Amino acid sequence: MHKIDIDLVNMTLDVMKYAIDRISVTEPKIGIPKKAEELKALVGETITPKGIGGEVAFNLWKEHLMKANVSIDHPRHLAFVPASPTRAAIMFDLVTSASSIHGAYWMEGAGGIFCENEAMKWIVSLTGLPEGAFGVFTSGGTAANLSAIVTAREYWRSLNDKNKVEKGLIITSIGAHSSIKAMAKVVDVDVLLVDTEDRLEGTALQETIDSLTQQQRQRLFAVVGTGGTTNAGIIDDLDGIATICAKEGLWFHIDAAYGGGALAADSVRHLFKGIEKADSITIDPHKWMFSPYDCGAVIYKNPELAKEAHSQQGSYLDIFKDEGAHGFNPSDYQIQLTRRVRGLPLWFSLATHGTERYKVAIERGLELAQIAGKLIQDKPYVELVRDPSLSCVLFRRIGWNPEDYTHWTYENHKKGFALVTPTKWKTGTAFETVSRFCFINPDTTEKDIEMILDSMK
Ligand SMILES: Cc1ncc(COP(=O)(O)O)c(C=O)c1O
Repeated sequence: MHKIDIDLVNMTLDVMKYAIDRISVTEPKIGIPKKAEELKALVGETITPKGIGGEVAFNLWKEHLMKANVSIDHPRHLAFVPASPTRAAIMFDLVTSASSIHGAYWMEGAGGIFCENEAMKWIVSLTGLPEGAFGVFTSGGTAANLSAIVTAREYWRSLNDKNKVEKGLIITSIGAHSSIKAMAKVVDVDVLLVDTEDRLEGTALQETIDSLTQQQRQRLFAVVGTGGTTNAGIIDDLDGIATICAKEGLWFHIDAAYGGGALAADSVRHLFKGIEKADSITIDPHKWMFSPYDCGAVIYKNPELAKEAHSQQGSYLDIFKDEGAHGFNPSDYQIQLTRRVRGLPLWFSLATHGTERYKVAIERGLELAQIAGKLIQDKPYVELVRDPSLSCVLFRRIGWNPEDYTHWTYENHKKGFALVTPTKWKTGTAFETVSRFCFINPDTTEKDIEMILDSMK
């Protein structure tokens, strides 16, 4: 199985050709999911005692299985948070896999971790955090948020023995991403939600803190603000929240998993004022920094606190911490031990293109949202729910009910034309089903947006 043979070499060439074709294509197929039974009927038994052979398996992949995936970098994939990895980054993802690097410890992955850290320095510089701040690449925003919450909770526990026996409490708003609530469950802390999907203001946070019982106040250890809500691209009052957190002695985490890329865009950088005062920040390069999956990042003002929370101890791991092997060990700063050097494709792409090209590509996402906003205003059958924010646009098709949005989504998807999905927007106490664009891919054109809106007529 580990021998090199001519068939395997030929196969590698086929795979490279497939990869080159996929990297070069400008409009990949959107892809249509199939039920598991349908896929099974198409490909049959693939895991057998003797194996079906690489060629057969690869052909099944190309013929049937790949076609059941959505290409998230399609220019008319505007649902959820799409992705658009650069071609250089995808290419280097292949190199990353082929290089077989263990990215947990410097002793094994010095070259790869060095590159990751160079890319990380650029990301940290965008935040304006003070000297000493640093971060690591994680599998995504969820893992980054979890790593940050664990660090915050462990720090809080270290402050006072009483905190060690209390169940912690964090405050965020209903606009925060679902992963905050999900990860709070993992850590077993309570979450108090300020009831606004709009910008979480410092004043609303202060009122919420003031309304806590003494027992709740004692359990409160962190506030999570959002630097670009996933649903609507709204940036919380980061400066106001930072001031309150400093006054109240609370950890301030900012989830900028989606919006963090926009820190590189001069046109909107001012909206993030206050981010430089955070204790920790999540930014997902696999969203608006054009990195292939899976590449998130968690950044700490004081990385030593993360190390105290996450560094794993074990006799077989001691050598990694020895002077002779010592360097920066990414596993010390987040929840994962074994990890691929997932920041390496980003490093290569940044090194290839330079940070200026990133700025331009990110500005394009912002511009596309403005273009979409104008097109929506010009058409009588659609209207904006709110002004575009970052690269998110919420709009309604006048006269449609929730089923119409769902039907339209499926129809466009089935045709392989576009993937645009509905969401809900809360006004007062009512939730309305509306449509949503999220722009990431700089190759999306005004014509693409026109065509999608036309399909709603
Ligand atoms: C604001 C925000 N936080 C966290 C996440 C979760 O990130 P991931 O899917 O990379 O775990 C997302 C995903 O869309 C997000 O938009």
